[in-house]
Amino acid sequence: MSSADPASLGRALCIITGASRGFGRAVARELSRLVTPGSGLVLAARSGEDLRAVREELAASEAGRAGLRVESVVADVGRTEGLEAIIRAAKDALIEQVDHVMLVNNAASLGDVSRFAVSFNDLAEVDSYLSLNVSSAWCLTARVLQAFPQRPGLRRTVVNISSLCAIKPFPSWALYCTGKAARDMMFQVLALEEPDVRVLSYSPGPLDTAMQVEARSRSADPGIRKLFGDQFAEGKLMSCEASCAKLMKLLLEDSYTSGAHVDVYDL
Ligand SMILES: NC(=O)c1ccc[n+]([C@@H]2O[C@H](COP(=O)([O-])OP(=O)(O)OC[C@H]3O[C@@H](n4cnc5c(N)ncnc54)[C@H](OP(=O)(O)O)[C@@H]3O)[C@@H](O)[C@H]2O)c1
Repeated sequence: MSSADPASLGRALCIITGASRGFGRAVARELSRLVTPGSGLVLAARSGEDLRAVREELAASEAGRAGLRVESVVADVGRTEGLEAIIRAAKDALIEQVDHVMLVNNAASLGDVSRFAVSFNDLAEVDSYLSLNVSSAWCLTARVLQAFPQRPGLRRTVVNISSLCAIKPFPSWALYCTGKAARDMMFQVLALEEPDVRVLSYSPGPLDTAMQVEARSRSADPGIRKLFGDQFAEGKLMSCEASCAKLMKLLLEDSYTSGAHVDVYDL
């Protein structure tokens, strides 16, 4: 816990994966408003065109005009070259010495939810899912913490975008639930090992994004299809902006227990 200014995240370098759309784009927009001039934002995803649009929007915003540097990096976080490119872009985004480095591990995939756990007998298929959804966030976090080591006056924050699926099993979602649970545990260990790093696993709630379209249309389990179909039909999905506002409040207040899993519905 720190005695941070509750209105600002300081002069920060913020790295956001999966910033091209959905929740990651909302996080990028909100962070741009909460950092002070001289800050840098690094937006990573695979689709260059969508990323460029977000970068241009933020560069033209009040924060951009006030001196926020926005770098976009077309990178697959599941590949070593992608992680290397993100670290290079983060170093390029540093205009001056920052007092806060923040990484938001948001990029993820739902995986093939059209099948049940017993159908996954191919090691390469499961490994490939876990590589993108677990190893990438772990290795990117390690690389960021190594590239920006502890020094007096530097705050370091790592956010893991988690899910209810990290703590609750959903039939036909074995890949996704396993990945989210593993990520949460890795970040809990990190919080114990690195007491100077603020670590948060944030579960953003059911969001009205492309991932939800897959969830309600492709899930093998009829109960899950109905659950998400009903939430959509009844207007119960949360907007990325509303969930993101709660995440920003948590980050500004900075009073969560490092390593904790915090659900949007607990706030
Ligand atoms: N939607 C929900 O209801 C919900 C609920 C709980 C938790 N979450 C979590 O919230 C986070 C955001 O989800 P969302 O709903 O916004 O998902 P989304 O709409 O599918 O967006 C996923 C983002 O991740 C990026 N991405 C995917 N694979 C990537 C890769 N290999 N390399 C780099 N970037 C990659 C995508 O960009 P490109 O395709 O351009 O690469 C996109 O920007 C995820 O961690 C998700 O698990 C979502």
